[in-house]
Amino acid sequence: MSPRFIALALAALASAAPWAAMAADTSPAAQLARFAAEAGRPGQPEQGRLFFTSTHGGKWSCASCHREVPTVAGQHAGSGKTLEPLAPAANARAFTEQARVDKWFRRNCKDVAGRECTAGEKADVLAYLVSLTR
Ligand code: HEC
Repeated sequence: MSPRFIALALAALASAAPWAAMAADTSPAAQLARFAAEAGRPGQPEQGRLFFTSTHGGKWSCASCHREVPTVAGQHAGSGKTLEPLAPAANARAFTEQARVDKWFRRNCKDVAGRECTAGEKADVLAYLVSLTR
């Protein structure tokens, strides 16, 4: 790779940075498509609902903080803090920032399952969440 190419690539990145720093760099549908492509299969809403409402070796399920049907505000099971609804139908901000999606999937899956979720699990959960209506 030539130094000139690298300089050009860096310039392109720098000019993209203000855009990247803004919220809404993606959509719930785009995130669902990303995880489904990674998993090599479509997300399955019923599987996602089961994953979301079950425990996976620890004391918490996803629903412990986000509620059984996450079209309403959640409440953090540890701190009691109020959380915005996770379902896109009830929260225009949900799944509109890829870095945020990845950060919270990583953190929350570790809290609930003691490991990162697989792409298939993420596709299923997201298929479930986008299937919900208010
Ligand atoms: C101990 C509480 C807790 C549990 C359990 C939990 N979450 Fe979360 N989750 C949070 C908090 C806090 C946020 C950030 C919310 C905020 O800033 O409003 C969040 C945000 C998210 C987001 C980011 C959504 C977005 O784009 O705004 C995703 C995705 C998510 N959680 C998925 C899950 C999944 C899947 C599970 C189960 C494996 C789970 N969470 C379990 C507390 C929890």
